[in-house]
Amino acid sequence: MSAQIEQKRLTAPDIRARKGGLPIVMLTSYHAHTAMLVDRHCDVILVGDSLGMVMHGLESTIPVTLDMMILQGKAVMRGSRHALVVVDMPFGSYEASKEQAFASAARVMKETGCGAIKMEGGARMAETIAFLTERGIPVMGHIGLTPQSINALGGFRTQGRDESEWEPIEADARAVADAGAFSMVVEAVAEPLAAKITREVAIPTIGIGASAACDGQVLVLEDMLGLSPRAPKFVKRYSDLGPAIDRAVAAYAAEVRSRAFPAADHTYGMRSKTPAKAK
Ligand code: KIV
Repeated sequence: MSAQIEQKRLTAPDIRARKGGLPIVMLTSYHAHTAMLVDRHCDVILVGDSLGMVMHGLESTIPVTLDMMILQGKAVMRGSRHALVVVDMPFGSYEASKEQAFASAARVMKETGCGAIKMEGGARMAETIAFLTERGIPVMGHIGLTPQSINALGGFRTQGRDESEWEPIEADARAVADAGAFSMVVEAVAEPLAAKITREVAIPTIGIGASAACDGQVLVLEDMLGLSPRAPKFVKRYSDLGPAIDRAVAAYAAEVRSRAFPAADHTYGMRSKTPAKAK
C-alpha cells in the first residue's frame, strides 16, 4: 500500500479562516505544468485574466473572453492538487447584472472545477457579490487598481497616494467584505492605506503592490520569474529566466546548425537481434 498521504485541496473557507494568521501565498498560473510547480508552495493559484497579456500578447485584459479563462482554468486544475484555484471573471462577463454574473460564474465553476472566482470592483459590485455567495459561489473581490477599468481610470495609476482619495477605496473594501467575499485582492494601493484596510476588514486582503501588512501576497508568475519584458515597479524578480531561456535556445540553434544535436544519446538505434539458439 502506498504510504503517500492524500492532501486535501484548500477551500475558500480555509483561506477566509487565515485572516490575521499565516500569510496567504498566491501566484498566477495559466498552464498545467506551471500549476504543478506552483501548487507545492502556494495556498491559492489565480488563473488571472492577465493571461491576455502574458499568453496572448494583448495590450490589456479587456479582450479576454470567458472561453479563454475556462480553457486555462481546466489546465490549472489538472496540474494542481493542493491549492485553491481561483478563476478571474473577464471584462464583460459579469458587470451587466447579477444574473449575468451568476450565469458566467456558474459556467466557470462547472466547466473548470475551480473552487472560487474573482471579480473586480468595490461598492458597485457588492450586490452581485452577495447574490453569488448566497448561491454557492465563493467570490474573491479585487479593489484599488482594477485593470479592467483602465479606460475609465485613464491609465495604471497607484491608488490612494493622496489621503483625500482614501475614503472611497476604504468604502469599496468594506462593501466587498460585507457582501460576503471570502477575501479580496488589493492592487496598487499606497502602503499605509492597504495596511489600514487590512486592519479594518474582517476578510483576508491579498496585496499586489500594496503592503507587507496584507494577509497575503500575489504576483504574476511570469513577472516574478523574469519572463515578462516589462513589469511594474512593485514586482520583485525572484529569478531571471528570460536570459536563461535565451541562452538555452541560442545553444540549441547553434547545435542544430552544426549537427552536434541530436547526438547518439538522443537518437534510437536498432533493436539488437537475439542470437538463434544452437540446436
Ligand atoms: O489577472 C491577474 O493576474 C490579477 C492579479 C494581478 C491579481 O488579477
